[in-house]
Amino acid sequence: MTSPAPIDRRRALKTLFCSSALLSLNLREGAGTLRAAEGDSLDLLLIGDFGTSGADQRKVAQAMRDYCQTAQITPHGLLLLGDNFYSAAKDGFSTESVRWKNTFEDVYPAEAFPGPCWAVLGNHDYHDNPGGEKVQLAYAQRPGTRWKMPAKWYRFDLGPEGKPLATVIALDSNLPSISGGKDKKSGKPRGSLTEAEAAEQLAWFKAQLGSQRAPFTIVMAHHPVYSNGDHGDTRTLVKEWGPLLQEHKVHAYLCGHDHDLQHLELEGQHTSYVLSGGGGAKTRKLEGDRKMPYGKDIHGFTHLRIEREALVFTHLDASAEPVHRFTKRLDGSFELA
Ligand SMILES: [Fe+2]
Repeated sequence: MTSPAPIDRRRALKTLFCSSALLSLNLREGAGTLRAAEGDSLDLLLIGDFGTSGADQRKVAQAMRDYCQTAQITPHGLLLLGDNFYSAAKDGFSTESVRWKNTFEDVYPAEAFPGPCWAVLGNHDYHDNPGGEKVQLAYAQRPGTRWKMPAKWYRFDLGPEGKPLATVIALDSNLPSISGGKDKKSGKPRGSLTEAEAAEQLAWFKAQLGSQRAPFTIVMAHHPVYSNGDHGDTRTLVKEWGPLLQEHKVHAYLCGHDHDLQHLELEGQHTSYVLSGGGGAKTRKLEGDRKMPYGKDIHGFTHLRIEREALVFTHLDASAEPVHRFTKRLDGSFELA
């Protein structure tokens, strides 16, 4: 594991100013498809493992706002990488629960983050509030909401209609072998995808990979395929999803679950693995010893700029300082900043 020198702030800002085109979002929601925007680049912020309603979540959220203000960007959307709600809601978890205000709406207010907030489900979203996954799906149906979860798995293309920049495939990684079984303490069954849902999702995932896609393809889900973090690799995903990512030349796999920030590159693989799990839950030390461009157990978030020929990822800490940056190219190559 290496820690790169801090990124020159002026250089970082210059890069951001150069392509800070103000783009209008023009969302069209169809059967699992969302399309957005006109223009040459898009700015998204990524967070995972954030839904505590606690001080660390608010600190990271403030850092996201500070960063956007300093860099003079209005993010076009947020990618929410799961564990969106930790712990049982005291008022019962429903679309009316105060948790929506305390954990989402007020922490990431629309004035700072006006764009769609595309979310996937984490293990805590199934387990801490039984049936919570249905509530999150229902909240997405409220008129005018920024909360986007049209299904447990879905796809959206970003960029101008007819000439998108990136295809994003959002998956539910709570396969029965990963999130199912019984709770260790209570002995009660834990929520997860059913076997039938997992099979349906896998077939759908393959179909999306086999269909027409934008020049860049990004897959997002909660559990890592590969990770040097506390949980380590997710063996089922290494077996089931890993070969598909490689075969179909997916450019980046975005996830959380481990409470840290990581960037992994594996020898000969087309896919960059980006873990952004520092959104608010207590950080955990990294345990893996795989060589990696970056990994640190800190709170923070990730800025993804999508350009016509580059994906630029920047991990930032809870003080909005950039800690790691790399650029991913169409041919799968990458450069560290
Ligand atoms: Fe998790």
